[in-house]
Amino acid sequence: MCGIIGYVGTRDVVPVLIGGLRKLEYRGYDSAGVAVVNGNGVEVVRAEGKLANLEAKLADKPLHGTFGMGHTRWATHGKPNENNAHPHRDCTGTVVVIHNGIIENFLPLKHQLQKTGHEFKTETDTEVVAHLIEEKMKSGMKFEPAVKKTLKELEGHYALVMINANEPGTIIAAKQGPPLVVGLGEGENIIASDVAPLLAYTRNIIYLEDGEYIIANDKKVDVFTADDKPVHREPKKILWDAVMAEKEGYRHYMLKEIHEQSRAVRDTFNGRMFEESAEIFFNDLQFTPKEWAKIRKIHIVACGTSWHAGLVGKFLLEEASRLPVEVDYGSEYRYRNPIVDDGTLLIGVTQSGETADTIAGMQEAKAKGAKLVTICNVIGAAATRMSEGVIYTNAGPEIGVASTKAFTTQLTAFYLLSLYIKQLRGLDKDDIRYAMHELSVIPHKIETLLKKQEKHIEQLAHKYQRAQDFLFLGRGVHYPIALEGALKLKEISYIHAEGYPAGEMKHGPIALIDENLPVVAIATHTPVYDKVVSNLQEVKARDGKLIVICDEGDEEMKKFADDVIEIPWTVEPLQPILSVIPTQLLAYYIALRRGADVDQPRNLAKSVTVE
Ligand code: F6R
Repeated sequence: MCGIIGYVGTRDVVPVLIGGLRKLEYRGYDSAGVAVVNGNGVEVVRAEGKLANLEAKLADKPLHGTFGMGHTRWATHGKPNENNAHPHRDCTGTVVVIHNGIIENFLPLKHQLQKTGHEFKTETDTEVVAHLIEEKMKSGMKFEPAVKKTLKELEGHYALVMINANEPGTIIAAKQGPPLVVGLGEGENIIASDVAPLLAYTRNIIYLEDGEYIIANDKKVDVFTADDKPVHREPKKILWDAVMAEKEGYRHYMLKEIHEQSRAVRDTFNGRMFEESAEIFFNDLQFTPKEWAKIRKIHIVACGTSWHAGLVGKFLLEEASRLPVEVDYGSEYRYRNPIVDDGTLLIGVTQSGETADTIAGMQEAKAKGAKLVTICNVIGAAATRMSEGVIYTNAGPEIGVASTKAFTTQLTAFYLLSLYIKQLRGLDKDDIRYAMHELSVIPHKIETLLKKQEKHIEQLAHKYQRAQDFLFLGRGVHYPIALEGALKLKEISYIHAEGYPAGEMKHGPIALIDENLPVVAIATHTPVYDKVVSNLQEVKARDGKLIVICDEGDEEMKKFADDVIEIPWTVEPLQPILSVIPTQLLAYYIALRRGADVDQPRNLAKSVTVE
């Protein structure tokens, strides 16, 4: 939902901005632009489409300076063309603004400004901010107070970076909703939508809270509350390596991230699971048995892939806790007046920790007295700051827009949480120890699966790449994997795909089956294995093309299916971590064959900070 970056210091600013925007491009790639302040005043270059178009323009018209800002856009208000690309300026061209979010009251503000003679050049909501600041400066106000006054007039969600070309060296940035982080350097300071662009310059990061704004120059950064009170906040040290956010020789981030899953899952359980004593320990989440005894029900709120992780989580947590677990989309939960009280545990699942719908759902539950826990991948993200407990997934930065390693680490976190609940309930230690051992060998099984199956899946992608539709089937813990497999395929290859519970197929979707419909089914050994096999017979009887993800050595399945993808055996609650991987690879290689933009699929953005 737009990436923003601002820099003040001594370096040549354009490479800093472009390097940063490259790391933020996952947030939107409809257009990009930079503004640089130098001896010529402020110079702005913008381009429709991906960052590469902006880079080509800058190669023709190089800009130099040590102070500036950059933006990569995911369009909300106004078409994704060059004219609507950020940065935006006031009538004089000196006040320059970039923005992530939506100014909800932009229309009345715009009408009011037009009446006083302001001319608008774009269809964006953002442009009003530049004109509002200008309007105040016209009546003699300095830039700083003009910005402060403007912020008080804005309604909606925003991360804003604002400069005045007549006061070079000062950046003002404000946050209400979307993320904004500040990197404190030596003789330089940098502001961005997430930490990835900052890591090349500093590890000392300040996370801004909603309502806060900063005034920065190359020497210092002052943080203020919405009512202008100074804030003293110690910077956090970020341990991520800048290199972790690079492609490391893989053709796409998505492929790299699929291959990182063994490491990511290990990092999620390392230091939290102690097999010898059969104990689970979470740094940022602790229940006393008494607190736990107060919990009467669990609600899980999430969106997209994280919602699918929540559906698997429901199986694991209901079994461990014997409490009712509901799973809801953030966008539904927030408006359905859910039944929540102080006996409710709300688990928000979010890779980014900034998804607007998930956060609103969490706020709704918190307001009604629920205890909040977040499963999140981004340290210090909004969702974690509002929660009493956090389980970080430790997947490392996920750049590919299609989520992969974030998902398998969310499943790992749910598995650990289910063991933690069993521990709180005083359940059998030997069972818990065995469950831990099975998790400890999962990273090795992921590696084996990738080694043995990747080439084969690439060939299957070649065979099935021209299909117009796909059906994904699964039962029990694999039903959410069927949904996730379908989502992955549709979002990156643009092939229509549906996920369905295998037992439900006969109630409708069976009408779709013919020799042109590939059906991807997950049929590993679970208590419903035989039932799934019967459902697959129904597909075969209608000439559907069956691709079955099954246990290694399932000879019967090999006779029966058109194609099989064998995965290592594990216990049922851990099977989704393995069974999802072939669906990720299949989607990846089909998208690749069809020439789609795997890491940045059309119309999407990695973190959805608007409703
Ligand atoms: C799909 C995908 C999205 C996200 C969803 C929630 O591959 O990535 O469906 O899962 O937008 O995002 P987070 O987990 O950041 O809240």
